[in-house]
Amino acid sequence: MSREVTMPGLLADKIILITGGGSGIGAAGARLAARDGARVIVADLMPEAAERVARECNGEAATVDVRETASVQALIDGVATRHGRIDGLFHTAMSVPLVNKNDRRVTELTETTWEAILSLVLTGTFLVCKYAGRQMLKQGGGSIVLTATADALIGQAGLDAYTAAKGGVVSMTRSMAAGLSPEGVRINTICPGFVDTPHQREFLDVPALRARIEAMQLTPIMTAEDIAEMALFFLSDRARYLTGGIHACDGGYSAFKGRLDVMEVFGRAEE
Ligand SMILES: NC(=O)c1ccc[n+]([C@@H]2O[C@H](COP(=O)([O-])OP(=O)(O)OC[C@H]3O[C@@H](n4cnc5c(N)ncnc54)[C@H](O)[C@@H]3O)[C@@H](O)[C@H]2O)c1
Repeated sequence: MSREVTMPGLLADKIILITGGGSGIGAAGARLAARDGARVIVADLMPEAAERVARECNGEAATVDVRETASVQALIDGVATRHGRIDGLFHTAMSVPLVNKNDRRVTELTETTWEAILSLVLTGTFLVCKYAGRQMLKQGGGSIVLTATADALIGQAGLDAYTAAKGGVVSMTRSMAAGLSPEGVRINTICPGFVDTPHQREFLDVPALRARIEAMQLTPIMTAEDIAEMALFFLSDRARYLTGGIHACDGGYSAFKGRLDVMEVFGRAEE
């Protein structure tokens, strides 16, 4: 006779806040966190997007602009008042079109774009970490997962504002972890490669571009769920000893130069 064994979910009973949860990686994180037992708060600049995803995962929707102190404070205070705590924060909020359409190499980059990207990526990260971090210190611990990019680890022509801002996120991860983790707040950052999210479809749906993107990775192109699964692990107690880490989740993108076996091309030394 088989006996059913029920395991508690990875995030059972945890209060998980996801910024940028209305789309892409954040939305996948919201659905999977709910699957794993969390109570999810889906926060986004776009109220309808947040509400749609919150409905899908039986969670709560909130509107936030991560660039604005008052907005971030209101979000954190609201969650803390309703639930008494915030166990995990998965920060993904970003405008992919802002970067894809406007970022440039330094000599062509406008000051307006530079400031817009730094404000959204770097100030946004500062604000959510500041106010969620304060709440986590108050309650005695928590886990923050930030989203940088593989482009913050290796050079990428034409993305000088994005790489500067995400490079700042990478650096902040280490110093914030050093400052907060002794009091129980863990901080880890994921660096995705190219991910199949709605805004990246403009490239992936063009066969010639898709082929070039595929050639930059050693695995098939990742989905939003692939990235989210990694984030959920860092949010969970199973990662209780992990903090201050910068984790590539990029199909090998930052590990190699190209799909080229140089020894095949230039000839192997004779035995
Ligand atoms: N998709 C990729 O290929 C890729 C690669 C590397 C890194 N990333 C990073 O992953 C994260 C998520 O990317 P995605 O592709 O899922 O993006 P996405 O565009 O699908 O979702 C981002 C969400 O953030 C929200 N948002 C934008 N500005 C906001 C603001 N000021 N305040 C609150 N919310 C705001 C948007 O409304 C959107 O719902 C980003 O930080 C991005 O830089 C993505």
